[in-house]
Amino acid sequence: MRARFGERAPILVETTLLRRRAADKLADLGDVSSWLFTDEALQQATVAAVALHRARRLAGLVVHDATCSVGTELAALRRTSARAVGSDIDPVRLAMARHNLGPDADLCRADALHPVTRDAVVVVDPARRRGGRRRLRPADYQPALGLLLATYRRRELVVKCAPGIDFDQLSRLGFEGEIEVTAYRGSVREACLWSGGLAAPGVRRRASLLDSGEQVTDTEPDDCAVRPAGRWIVDPDGAVVRAGLVRHYGARHGLWQLDPDIAYLSGDRLPAGVRGFEVLEQLAFDERRLRQALSALDCGALEILVRGVQVDPDALRRRLRLRGSRPLSVVITRIGSAAAGRGTAFVCCPSR
Ligand SMILES: C[S@@+](CC[C@H](N)C(=O)[O-])C[C@H]1O[C@@H](n2cnc3c(N)ncnc32)[C@H](O)[C@@H]1O
Repeated sequence: MRARFGERAPILVETTLLRRRAADKLADLGDVSSWLFTDEALQQATVAAVALHRARRLAGLVVHDATCSVGTELAALRRTSARAVGSDIDPVRLAMARHNLGPDADLCRADALHPVTRDAVVVVDPARRRGGRRRLRPADYQPALGLLLATYRRRELVVKCAPGIDFDQLSRLGFEGEIEVTAYRGSVREACLWSGGLAAPGVRRRASLLDSGEQVTDTEPDDCAVRPAGRWIVDPDGAVVRAGLVRHYGARHGLWQLDPDIAYLSGDRLPAGVRGFEVLEQLAFDERRLRQALSALDCGALEILVRGVQVDPDALRRRLRLRGSRPLSVVITRIGSAAAGRGTAFVCCPSR
């Protein structure tokens, strides 16, 4: 490579490797095999399925992606919106966006904290890592979240945030719109803030499960009983838990809670498409008794789910030294109030 391309060789190698990584992450945007990236820009790029989901919510509107980077999210927005404009403060990324999106893309260099559009819905995905390090505090986002909310107070605004963001802190910053927690390929990807005018009436929390297409919001009924385990235990998707919608999800699917403060649900019928755990045995959590129960069932590989009790699943699995042939699951949780609460183990057979 060096003999043929001289000092450009490292850049060519890196670009080729980045394009290979992008092929999976951005596949839903079409062919990105000729796109330009930096390593950090590709890490920061919104995975295409999530960008397209957001773009569908903005269909038909005029939008301004004010932190467009190399253009991945803007590519999704251009498919659905009436018009999409992109800007970024970084001239190199903008040049890459121009290459990636082509001569028709509306792009300009601008600081997101100094609005260059009027009336358009502003979409911002602040940088949450620099030089490989993650910045988790909203005040450390680039641009800072508080400044963004203040700058666009009178505009319709969408902000992509880290999934772990402190919701109370958002209220303290004056945010009163909808928080949408999105999961894709089994993991929680982001918490997205939607200003009031973009949210459905009354919705303050939404969980969007892109793998199944299911959405749950806090305007749905949340009358979910607390009862002993039925035939199945369900561990709701992380986005449902993070959005605080476990009871709403349970009510929708005819499930009940095992404990009012614990996110496990139970029911006699497993909702369609949901992975569940069929209860074979319930016992007070005690390692020796658990080992006996699992050995009697010829358990080999063991999946361990834990909520509300201090158990290290990997360490427990090693200590149990199971030698059987049947793959099983155990759900270990606390049932009852904190003081009286005791660990309970449910030995289960997973539905898949
Ligand atoms: C997380 S990346 C955006 C990724 C983009 N949504 C995508 O999917 O490819 C954040 C971007 O914000 C830009 N940025 C940081 N501070 C900015 C500011 N004050 N104004 C405009 N852009 C800014 C960075 O240059 C970076 O490209």
